[in-house]
Amino acid sequence: MMKNMNRLSFLLLLFALMTPSALSAEVQSVYSPNHDLCVNFDVNGGVPVYNVMFKGKQVIKDSRLGLDLISAKGSGKGTNFNNKVSIGQNSLMDGFTLTAVNYSSFDETWRPVWGEESEIRNHYNEMAVTLNQQEMGRYIIVRFRVYDDGLGFRYEFPLQDNLTYFVIKEERTQFAMPGDITAWWIGGDYDTQEYEYTRSRLSEIRGIFHSRITDNESQQQFSETGVQTSLLLKTDDGIYLNLHEAQLVDYPCMHLNLDDKNMVFESWLTPDAQGRKGYMQTPCSTPWRTIMVVDDARDMLASRLILNLNEPCKIEDTSWIKPVKYMGVWWELIAGKSTWHYTDEVPSVKLGETDYSHLKPNGKHGANNENVKRYIDFAADNGFDQVLVEGWNQGWEDWYGNSKDYVFDFVTPYPDFDIQMLNDYAHSKGIRLMMHHETSASTRNYERHLEEAYTLMNKLGYNSVKSGYVADILPRGENHYSQWIINHYQYCVEQAAKHHIMVNAHEAVRPTGLCRTWPNLIGNESARGTEYQAFGGTTPGHTAILPFTRLQGGPMDYTPGIFEMDLSKFAPNESKCLSTICGQLALYVTLYSPLQMAADLPENYARFMDAFQFIKDVPVDWQRSMYLEASPMEYITIARKDKNSDAWYLGGVTDTKPHDSVIKLDFLDKDRKYEATIYVDGKAADYKTNPQAYTITKKTVTNKTTLKLHSAPGGGFAVSIKPL
Ligand code: NOJ
Ligand code: CA
Repeated sequence: MMKNMNRLSFLLLLFALMTPSALSAEVQSVYSPNHDLCVNFDVNGGVPVYNVMFKGKQVIKDSRLGLDLISAKGSGKGTNFNNKVSIGQNSLMDGFTLTAVNYSSFDETWRPVWGEESEIRNHYNEMAVTLNQQEMGRYIIVRFRVYDDGLGFRYEFPLQDNLTYFVIKEERTQFAMPGDITAWWIGGDYDTQEYEYTRSRLSEIRGIFHSRITDNESQQQFSETGVQTSLLLKTDDGIYLNLHEAQLVDYPCMHLNLDDKNMVFESWLTPDAQGRKGYMQTPCSTPWRTIMVVDDARDMLASRLILNLNEPCKIEDTSWIKPVKYMGVWWELIAGKSTWHYTDEVPSVKLGETDYSHLKPNGKHGANNENVKRYIDFAADNGFDQVLVEGWNQGWEDWYGNSKDYVFDFVTPYPDFDIQMLNDYAHSKGIRLMMHHETSASTRNYERHLEEAYTLMNKLGYNSVKSGYVADILPRGENHYSQWIINHYQYCVEQAAKHHIMVNAHEAVRPTGLCRTWPNLIGNESARGTEYQAFGGTTPGHTAILPFTRLQGGPMDYTPGIFEMDLSKFAPNESKCLSTICGQLALYVTLYSPLQMAADLPENYARFMDAFQFIKDVPVDWQRSMYLEASPMEYITIARKDKNSDAWYLGGVTDTKPHDSVIKLDFLDKDRKYEATIYVDGKAADYKTNPQAYTITKKTVTNKTTLKLHSAPGGGFAVSIKPL
């Protein structure tokens, strides 16, 4: 067992033995490259157990590892244990002995196709433990990778005679908390993450959360302490933890259930239609279970742990993948000014059987030729790349709520949307249209039409698609986050890559860093985005928690840029966008995405063209990012350097409290002058009472300059800094 250990590891082991832990003398340890973080592993009475130490403090207490199975089969070549009556057959929980430990190190710098920085260092120490279940004649490997800012581990199931197929009842990975600490959480749900976050003690989750009921009786419900990942936590002595997963492929999405007597989280996988969790065939592995550990909140925003735990890019030629700044026939639909559907005449629609040319238009259809041209003109005049058009295709009269299998065919436009003409018009002005595929969560139907739909996109010159999965999943009984549907999302991304199409999937599973491997996955929603500002509003602190949680897995199509906060000014909608104009500008910097929308209507921007200038200028791809201030759900300030020039951009957001930032520009080049354009909330600005007040000033700055920037309640600031 000790054969593979190098001297350093042996010394570290000795050190680990001296640290307080319930682990036995057989403990195996692996340290982060800077030695601040340490994972200890042991097999205790046949049960695999690990804990995590950070700067000498235990941040994850002794936690069990393992999986409960429904069934397991061998290939029949080895010991035929299927005929043996054994209580252990469906348990990958106990009966283990540690038979090998392999240590290694890795240090490499890679260049993402797009990102928060142009180079990412992937530097870790690894420990892989081989666990034999002698009674069953089978084995598994648990692989730990420890970075300076966190760790990942996964279960690996090598190809072997006595473990070929198995069905997972539940993964039982524990994360034992170091006490009743603070969490920023959203409640468990198999279908959506579109919630605001709650900050509370772990012991308070039960009282606040009401578990959501699924309509499938064969599925276990969430407990009253079930939460989703990425989950942010903070110990009373200021250590931040984040629990999530990386590389979710061919496996269900993991949630966490809390045992709130002992403060132990345990994995809780999303069930399929039969209440089962995962169908596996060796060789295979689980996604990485990730634990970020930092003692400065800014380091969590700077962490690349999740990306690093994913595989390198699998697309050979990535030259067609380009970050996108876009506008769209969208906010006016969400706000209720116009409709996705073309006619009010039919109570129900059968695609293929409904002839739209005989139906009376309702006069409010948003995706009509004239309106789309208006957006194209405005986008072209202001240097955008694309224009999204929703409601362009037939089927919207009856698309949702009736569990219809066949709703959309993704290729047939409404009579007032001339798809060829509009694409030609857009291209003549240097704009591409962005395709919209609302699948109505009928995944089989989407797969039936996918090839034809992508082919049409290729023919007309679309290179990006916003897809969506509103409603209960079809096949019925499946969930948005179960294994079968995870495979569907992945299938769409891989097929899209073959067609040189970039994908931005809404309502799909929250991302886990797969955009490293498939950089054509340029966006996801999978959280509460701007649309909720039209559905009653979202508390300002929301955008100051997303970078700590949802954005850890990959970029979000948050759709910022609302300038007219009072929606009743242009739509029958009493909702108010709970933000200020400068707060909206800041989001282009603080919510990283290679896909950014200017979500408001052209006429609303036309009234504030001086503030709109920031949205026109701000890049969507970066060379460097610096996280200057950060407090979860309170405030975040980030500076980023353009990937393609020496210009810098600053953004800061705050919650309902005002915030004063003092920013040293010492990251600028020495001996160089820049022109800063500073967009700040006006003196009396306030997200509730005066959201449109702002001031814009210009001044010459150098790396010696300090900027004092005031954010109003619910507001923020934005600064562009261009070399002179
Ligand atoms: C929900 C999406 O988040 C939104 O952006 C889209 O407009 C609607 N679904 C319709 O597809
Ligand atoms: Ca949505």
